[in-house]
Amino acid sequence: MMLGVVFAEFIEMVEEEFSPDVADQVFEAVEDALPSGGAYTAVGEYHHSEILTLIAQLSQQTGVPADELVQRFGQYLFGRFTVLYPEFFTDADDTFAFLASIENYIHREVRKLYPHAELPRFNCSAPDERTLIMHYESKRPFASLAHGLILGCIDHFGQKVEVDLFQPKDRHGSSATFTLRRI
Ligand code: HEM
Repeated sequence: MMLGVVFAEFIEMVEEEFSPDVADQVFEAVEDALPSGGAYTAVGEYHHSEILTLIAQLSQQTGVPADELVQRFGQYLFGRFTVLYPEFFTDADDTFAFLASIENYIHREVRKLYPHAELPRFNCSAPDERTLIMHYESKRPFASLAHGLILGCIDHFGQKVEVDLFQPKDRHGSSATFTLRRI
């Protein structure tokens, strides 16, 4: 399941980055195929396949590949997290330090707020001061979302960091290794 807040933010992104009309058309096209009927509330929980259905439809309507849309959504979502959860940003001033704290701080706090949250696992290591390696593992296929969130984080702190991505093909987006380098 996935939290309603993620769906609410997705709809906002479609309205802002495409248009309210595109958002309406996406819903009209897939409404009947959505178990929830598309009536999302921020406190509800919905099957994560619904967001993939919405993305597939948006991709069909706009011609933008689905992976790229998920990544763009991640980038947008990070910006929204800075507004929705300012308490996580009071002491944060560095991309690497922030990302390395997702597993043992941010997502741990998220789980206290939302006991039903289904969160991925991140394993981080820093072979030297310029490099952060983040390994993503999930039961769900959201490596592109993680990629977008990482890019959004880099945007937020305004640092120059490049990101390389390795994804084992047979895991269909549920496993990925991100190598970040300060430039
Ligand atoms: C303040 C920052 C953050 C907050 C508040 C936050 C919170 C959340 C929440 C509420 C969910 C949804 C859980 C659910 O639907 O059950 C989620 C999922 C997720 N988060 Fe975070 N997150 C943050 C930062 C990040 C960052 C920077 C990354 C990437 C490195 C990340 C990676 C993910 C991914 C990929 C998922 C989708 C679930 C999955 O892959 O299985 N998050 N997060």
